[in-house]
Order: sequence, then structure tokens, then C-alpha cells
Amino acid sequence: MTINPVFTDATPLSAVSSEEQFRDDVLVGLTAAQKFIPAKYFYDEVGSDLFEAITRQPEYYPTRTEIGILDESGADIASLLPPRANLVEFGSGSTVKVRRLLVHLTDLAAYVPVDVSESFLRSEAETLSRDFPRLSIQPVAADFTRPFTLPDGLSNSAVAGFFPGSTIGNFEPPQAAHLLAHFGRVLGRGASLVVGVDLVKDKSALDAAYDDAAGVTARFNINLLHRINRELGADFDPSAFAHRAYFAPEASRIEMHLVSLRAQQVSLAGRRFSFSEGETIHTENSYKYTVDGFRDLASQAGWNVAKSWTDGERLFSVHALTRG
Ligand code: TRP
Repeated sequence: MTINPVFTDATPLSAVSSEEQFRDDVLVGLTAAQKFIPAKYFYDEVGSDLFEAITRQPEYYPTRTEIGILDESGADIASLLPPRANLVEFGSGSTVKVRRLLVHLTDLAAYVPVDVSESFLRSEAETLSRDFPRLSIQPVAADFTRPFTLPDGLSNSAVAGFFPGSTIGNFEPPQAAHLLAHFGRVLGRGASLVVGVDLVKDKSALDAAYDDAAGVTARFNINLLHRINRELGADFDPSAFAHRAYFAPEASRIEMHLVSLRAQQVSLAGRRFSFSEGETIHTENSYKYTVDGFRDLASQAGWNVAKSWTDGERLFSVHALTRG
């Protein structure tokens, strides 16, 4: 096994996750007319565990459906990637999905997981190397939305990208197009990109997926307030806020909010923020695409759509994109 972590200068982790940045971002968000908190702050340790638990809820179909597509069509997807490719996964998190491709990519030059969490990268790389002992694993600790360089010493063969989980849906559509174009620049000439994208569907199924009966997504959302109290010394009363998530068909997105259950004030960094009863903090969007809608977005970003796959119920889609 080769595990060779690269920590790029372009995106020092301290700049990604520093306490001052967190405080400033929350202060800006709580000052806006529609209050908001950037979704990246969900993922402290508790939040990351809760997110893993969300993916196991019966109502949360995306994870198991995407894995089903990869299980069923992995060989076909892998056949569209360049020979002896280097495979870069953006926001790698756990390796459950990429394993479905790796089993068909026996001639892979290297697997390059990119994630902001250094410790998670290291532990995932270690377990993966036990199951794929001949695979060269070259983790990169970086924020994949920012410019970063691939490790030196990758073979000269083409680079393929993997971006599962419908994370693309957590960006506003124009930013999503920019991100796909940015991936094209990072991956270079002759690249391919495999993207998982959740599909528009019946509102009741979408609403349930983001408001599971066991309340795990609610805890995930409310954990943001606990985290702000813990790390920034705010005095949110988390029990005075409720989770609300619903599909807004006009915008084709799930919106997630924290609703203030009464008029209240919260102090943070010497400032006070007032909430009226029913006022919300907007915490996340998850855009849903049609197959054609996503293919249009990918072409706007300079990619050719080689092939798209869906499950039998058309809940979720996986797309193979290529560029010259
Ligand atoms: N990208 C996935 C989605 O939008 C996972 C995800 C991101 C998510 N943030 C979330 C799931 C918040 C539930 C709640 O579905």
C-alpha cells in the first residue's frame, strides 16, 4: 500500500475551519434579513455522526438508491473511464460508494480522496488499503471547492473524478455549474467525471426524506445551535427551535430551516439577535434535478454527457461526463 498525504498550501485547513471564520460567518448570517448559517458548519464530530445516521433512515432513499445504481451499473460506469486512470473523489467522506467502482477498476493508477477532514481521510485510507492492498492511495486534505493541486507523481494517464451523494445539489445552480467547470480544470485534459444527482419526485417522498420519523435529521439541524453554543459561547436555547424541511417546487429544492418557537433573543460575541415567533434560520438547500436538467447544467459547464443511469423508480441518477 502507498498512502501519501498531501496537504496543499492553497487551502490551509486552519483557514477552512478557524474559529474566527466560523464566528464571522455566523454573525453575517444572523444579521441578514432572512437569517442563515452556512451548511458546511453542520459537520463537527457530532454532526458527521448524525449525518451517517441520516443515510440509514428508511425515508432517506438517496444513499441506498445511489449504491444500488453503482452495484448494478458499476462495470458499465467503470468502462467509460479512461484506461489506467487516476481517480479523484471530491469530498470523499466514507469509501462505501467508491468501492463499487474500485472493484471494476483493477488497472487504476491511483485513488486520490480529497476531503477537509484530515483524520477521517487517514482512517478511511487505512481501511481501504486493507481491502485493496495493491491500490495506490494518495489522500489530499483540501476544500474541493477551492483551487488545489493534485499530488506530484501521479501517472501521466488521464484523471477521472467521482462526486457522489448529490452534494452538487447543495450548491445554487449557478455555483453548481461553476463547480463542475472547476472540477474540469482540476482534473485536466481528457478527464471524465461521475456525478450522483438526486431527482425531482413526489413532494411527500422528498419531504419525508428530510424529516424522518425518528427525528435524526431534526437532531442534525438543531446540532448546529449546540455547536455554536459550544464553540462560540452563544446562548441559543436549542429547545426553543424546531426543525422544518420541505420541498419548494418553484425552486426545485428542499429547504431546511430552524424555526424560532417563540419571540426570543440570543447573544453571540457581545451582540444580541432578536427572533420573532415563527422566524427561521435557513440552514441548507438541496436542489433536485430532472435527468435532462442536470445534463443541461453539465453541458453549460463544458462537459459532454456520455451516459446517465437511474434506478427502476427513477429516484436518483448517476451521470458519466467527459471532456476533450
Ligand atoms: N447532499 C445530500 C442531500 O442533499 C446530503 C445532505 C447534505 C443532507 N446536507 C444534508 C441530507 C442535510 C440531509 C440534511 O440530500
